[in-house]
Amino acid sequence: MSIKDIVTVPDEILKKISNPIEKIGMNEKKLIKDLFDTMYHSKGIGLAAVQVGILKRIIVLDVSTKDEPKKPMSFINPIIKNFSSETSVYEEGCLSIPDTFIEIERPSTCEVEYIDLDGKHKNLKCEGILSTCLQHEINHLDGKLIIDNLSKLKRDFIIKKISKNKKNPDRIIV
Ligand code: NI
Repeated sequence: MSIKDIVTVPDEILKKISNPIEKIGMNEKKLIKDLFDTMYHSKGIGLAAVQVGILKRIIVLDVSTKDEPKKPMSFINPIIKNFSSETSVYEEGCLSIPDTFIEIERPSTCEVEYIDLDGKHKNLKCEGILSTCLQHEINHLDGKLIIDNLSKLKRDFIIKKISKNKKNPDRIIV
């Protein structure tokens, strides 16, 4: 079990573009295990390697609900191939932006191409929280954060307002 420190804003590394993985070796497998340990420990449902300070295109997710068994999923070099024109809105949080929740509109469904732990190329059609969470995490690999599209004024205002921690069943932390 290895829990890593999570990098938070305004650390500049969060704005950098992560590098593709060319070979899945021991380091990558250990990193994925550490990402899961860190994500579960922090009670997030998704984590990108850059959030522990490593610029590799690796993300982990677990969007299972409390009543379901754990469902760890890892994605190496994920690329979104298709987006739906239909959109949905979730109130998103981010382990790198503590106590901040912002409503984000994204395509409701998407199709992602990625490499699994065994180096196999896979395709996955995603909807609901899985779709939103994957898009959020892939944004991390490209140095994008949920606060990026806000003006500074709005960003400060929304962070203040939303961090009051109101309850919302659709709130997710990725
Ligand atoms: Ni995040």
